[in-house]
Amino acid sequence: MKLFLDTAHLHEIREAADTGLLDGVTTNPSLMKQAVEQLHDEEGEDIDLEEYIERIVKAANGKPVSLEVTGHTYDDMVEEGRRLFDRFNKINDNVFVKIPVNPSFGGEERTLEGVKAINELTSEGIPVNATLIFTPEQALMASKAGATYVSPFAGRINDLVRAKAGMDWDKGDYFPAKGMEEVDDNGVKSGIDLIRECAEIKDSHGFDAEVLAASIRNKRMLREAALVGADIVTAPPEMVKQSLRHEKTVEGMESFTEDTVEEYAEITGGDQ
Ligand code: E4P
Repeated sequence: MKLFLDTAHLHEIREAADTGLLDGVTTNPSLMKQAVEQLHDEEGEDIDLEEYIERIVKAANGKPVSLEVTGHTYDDMVEEGRRLFDRFNKINDNVFVKIPVNPSFGGEERTLEGVKAINELTSEGIPVNATLIFTPEQALMASKAGATYVSPFAGRINDLVRAKAGMDWDKGDYFPAKGMEEVDDNGVKSGIDLIRECAEIKDSHGFDAEVLAASIRNKRMLREAALVGADIVTAPPEMVKQSLRHEKTVEGMESFTEDTVEEYAEITGGDQ
C-alpha cells in the first residue's frame, strides 16, 4: 500500500520525504488556505502561492502531487487542469489534477461534467485524481472515465452516518468500520465500508483506477483502510505519527535504556 501525505504544508512534506515513507501528496483548496494562513499568522510570512506550490512539487521528490481545480463547469475544470499541469508538471513530472466527480452544487445541475472533464484531461495525457467520492458507483464511473486515482472520503461518510444517527462526535473520533444498526448511507455503513466496497468492485471488475482512501481521521482508520484493500491511503502527517506511537514502545525504550551497561554502550558507540 502506498502512503500519501494529505497536506499543503511544505515543512511537513519535507519532513516526510526524509523518512522514506512518502509515496505522494494530496492537497485541496482548504489545505492550501490553511498553509497560507498559518504561514501568515505564525511566521508573519506572506507567501507567493505560485512559488510555494513549486516548492511543494519539488519537495515531493518526483512522487505524485495532486492539485485541485476550483471551477465548477466542464470548461473551467478542463482549462484549470491544463493550466495547473502546464505550469507545475515540468518541474518534476509528478502533477495530478484533482477533479470533483460531480461538480453540481447550489441547485446547479452539472452531474456529468466531472466525468467528462476527467475523460478529456486523461485523453490529453494529464493524470487525474477523481475527488469527493462518496459511493462505490462514483468510483467505478470515475475510473471508467479515465481517472488514475479515485478518492473516497472515509471520514466524511462517518460524519454523515453519525449525523443521521443524531450523535455528537469530534473529528478524530473512531467510528466502527461495521457502522451501526439501522443507520447507513444508501447501504454504505461507514467510511471504511465505502473503501472496502470500492476495493471489491475494483477487484471484481478489474477497474483501472487505484483506490486512494482519503479523509482519514485517526490511526485506526489508516490501518482499516489498508486492511480492506485501499491501494493508497492519504493521511494528515499527524496520523502518520500516531501510527508510529505505542505506549509499550515507549516503555520498551525506557527499559532498554535503563538496562544498557557501559561495556555494551562502548561497543555500539552509544553514550550510556
Ligand atoms: C483528500 O485529498 C481530501 O481532500 C481530504 O482527505 C479531506 O479530509 P477531511 O474530510 O478530513 O477534510
